[in-house]
Amino acid sequence: MSEDTIRIALTKGRLERDTVNLFESLNFNVTALKDKGRKLILPIEGQNIEVVLAKAADVITYVEHGVCDIGVVGKDTIMEHGGKYFEIADLGFGKCKFALAGKKGRDFYYGYGVKTVASKYTNVTRAFFESKGMDVDIVKIEGSVELAPLLGLADGIVDIVETGTTLKENGLEVYEDIAQISARLIVNTVSMKLKKDRIDALVRLIDNKLGEN
Ligand code: PRP
Repeated sequence: MSEDTIRIALTKGRLERDTVNLFESLNFNVTALKDKGRKLILPIEGQNIEVVLAKAADVITYVEHGVCDIGVVGKDTIMEHGGKYFEIADLGFGKCKFALAGKKGRDFYYGYGVKTVASKYTNVTRAFFESKGMDVDIVKIEGSVELAPLLGLADGIVDIVETGTTLKENGLEVYEDIAQISARLIVNTVSMKLKKDRIDALVRLIDNKLGEN
């Protein structure tokens, strides 16, 4: 990567659309990003920026390894994955929350037995219950974790809640909020020094734009 180029790893999917809209509002040329076909690396012409489309956890990996300077990734992935990079801005979109949820009308904390909690986010789950000094069995589920309490595998789940529709339509409810989530800008620690001026300028542009809303 040329020293003048800034490479941004962008989480594919929901955050991708909001980020492309943000770039467009900065008057960046997002033609390539909008008409990407199956391409994974797209230029923002005239800005010397390259956008890499990746899965959330991989955004962090690419930024940590310095092959991308900047990443756009959800706080959920940051909390689960950890790692060494700077988290420098809250982009304000991709809002949702981590919550403990389970079957409607149940008291999760009732009784003395060790509870079973299902989640795709086992580190977040562990940290949450450790902070309460509570011992739980954690079962890793890869998707549609709402199934676990319905099938009797778990007393509760730790998952992302956005509109609450998935919980509601499956007879579940939030027992407790754990953390608010939104899209964040992360920066490689070396890029932060070597490309400071360009990164500062980009972050200033974004901050000003977000401040307008
Ligand atoms: C997430 C989450 C819930 C759902 C919540 O799943 O795991 O299932 O969204 O959204 P809601 O509150 O608006 O109903 P996602 O669609 O990301 O897929 P996944 O099951 O593969 O994680």
